[in-house]
Amino acid sequence: MRRAGALRAGVSPYNSRSPKRPMKDILVLYYSRHGATRDLALAIANGIDSVPGMQARIRTVPSVSGVCEAIEPDIPSDGPPYAELRDLDECVGLALGSPTRFGNMAASLKYFLDGTTPLWLSGALAGKPACVFTSTGSLHGGQESTLLSMMLPLLHHGMLIVGIPYTETALSTTQTGGTPYGASHVARHERAPEGLSADEKALAAALGARLAHTAAALVAGSA
Ligand SMILES: Cc1cc2nc3c(=O)[nH]c(=O)nc-3n(C[C@H](O)[C@H](O)[C@H](O)COP(=O)(O)O)c2cc1C
Repeated sequence: MRRAGALRAGVSPYNSRSPKRPMKDILVLYYSRHGATRDLALAIANGIDSVPGMQARIRTVPSVSGVCEAIEPDIPSDGPPYAELRDLDECVGLALGSPTRFGNMAASLKYFLDGTTPLWLSGALAGKPACVFTSTGSLHGGQESTLLSMMLPLLHHGMLIVGIPYTETALSTTQTGGTPYGASHVARHERAPEGLSADEKALAAALGARLAHTAAALVAGSA
C-alpha cells in the first residue's frame, strides 16, 4: 500500500535513482512467480544504474488466469507496478525477463507482449536495444531455448539484441547460470535462500551495463 501511495503521488520507488532529468530510462520488464527472476531483474537494474545518465524503470505484468472473471487490481499489492505500453514507448531500451516454463517464456509475459501490436504498427521500438533473462529450476532445463525464443518478438519489433560477450570472464567459469544469450539463474526446485550466485549476479549486472551503454550511444548518435 505504501508503494501504491507513492505511485499516486507520482514518485515511483521502482525508478531506481532520483527522478531528476535528463536521465534516460531503460525498462526492466519481467514476470516472476516465486522471486528468482525478480532477483535477476534487480541485478540487471544495478548494472543499468551504474551507467551515467541511465536509470532502470522496473515493471512487471499480472498473472494470466484461466478464470476469465478473475481481474487483478490495477496496482499490485507489492513489487513494481504493472507495465503499460507507454513504458515501452518512453524507455530507450528493454531488459525482458521470465521464468522458464517448459523451455519457453511464461504465458503471463507472452500475453503482455501479444498486446503490443500498436507499438509494432508504429515502429516505436525499432532501433532500441534489448536483452533477455530467465530463471530455471534445473541446470539443463531450457535456459537457452527460453532466452532465444524471448528474442523473437523483440526482433519482430525491430529491436537490437544485446548479449553477454566472453570478455566477461565469469561466462567461461560459471558453475551456475549466465549465458551468451542473456542473464540466467539456476534456482533449483526451491528458490535458493542465498539467491543469485556471485557469477550470476556479476553477469546480470554486466548485461544491464552493456544494455545501458548501448542505449546511451544510440541516443547520442540520433541527437
Ligand atoms: C509450469 C512450469 C513449468 C516449468 N518449466 C520448467 C522448465 O522447462 N525447465 C526448468 O528448468 N524449470 C522449469 N520450471 C521451474 C521454473 O522455471 C523455476 O522455478 C524458476 O526459477 C521460477 O522463477 P520465478 O521464481 O521467477 O517464478 C517450471 C515451473 C513451472 C511452474
